[in-house]
Amino acid sequence: MSRIAYVNGRYLPHKNASVHIEDRGYQFGDGVYEVVLVLNKNLIDFEGHYTRLKRSLSEISLDFPISETVIKQIFKRLVRSNHITNGLIYLQVTRGVADRAHQFPTNVPPALVVTAKPTLITKTVAGKKAITTADQRWDRRDIKTIQLLPNCIAKQEAVKHDAFEAIMVMQDGTITEGASSNLWMVDKDNQLVTRQASNAILNGITKLSLTNIASIRQYKIVERPFTVEEAREAKELFVTSATAIVTPIIQLNDDLIADGNVGPVALALRSAYLENTR
Ligand code: PDD
Repeated sequence: MSRIAYVNGRYLPHKNASVHIEDRGYQFGDGVYEVVLVLNKNLIDFEGHYTRLKRSLSEISLDFPISETVIKQIFKRLVRSNHITNGLIYLQVTRGVADRAHQFPTNVPPALVVTAKPTLITKTVAGKKAITTADQRWDRRDIKTIQLLPNCIAKQEAVKHDAFEAIMVMQDGTITEGASSNLWMVDKDNQLVTRQASNAILNGITKLSLTNIASIRQYKIVERPFTVEEAREAKELFVTSATAIVTPIIQLNDDLIADGNVGPVALALRSAYLENTR
């Protein structure tokens, strides 16, 4: 069964789907993206992802007037044609193909690529190790740009240390987020602490959604920056993203978090999130 991808209006076999070598995404990282979770053939938090996509496009002055309905149609068709029950959709918009010059080209149509793949989603998940590393990114981390080299370097550092995620730390000693996730801790008073939305982090759609789910369940949520020291002392740590959903972190560098077991809050929130998306 061959995989199908969407490229600029066409549905093509994944292995033949391609864009031009002078696409600005390829040459400059000039584009934005979204990753959307599919559960039981449903698009999860679609509106949130669409809203953030529009914002990212606007922040980089990329004029791409595509409606929510059209994007949803493309996503649904890819879910069907790739026979996906649980999986991920990747969407990327770049500023299109133009002679290489730094300034934005005029009258060039943006390029839209969408791919989909199945993944295994489980109710429970093993606790993972994370490492800390310097956050080397630019000042507009709120834009979901495809320029991810610092994130890739951080993730590679994690892999080198047999870790699942790299937790990025600013020069002031506060944690921003994971290389591809947002970080949360359960503090000694059982409050859920996660960094507030700002230009310092990507405002995760899973984080937004989980904030609603958790507050309905009477969890106290505090949005503020926190340090590596505080994370190390936390009762629980976990990360959220469209790919990780809610994944517990049981070790940070050489230190176990609490007793080194997966905590009840992370597991309860993972179940609640999966339940909520039924
Ligand atoms: N990344 N922070 C960063 C730096 C991310 O790359 C991501 C997601 C998140 C969480 O966002 P969301 O909850 O909307 O997935 C936070 C995706 C999954 C990726 O790059 O693959």
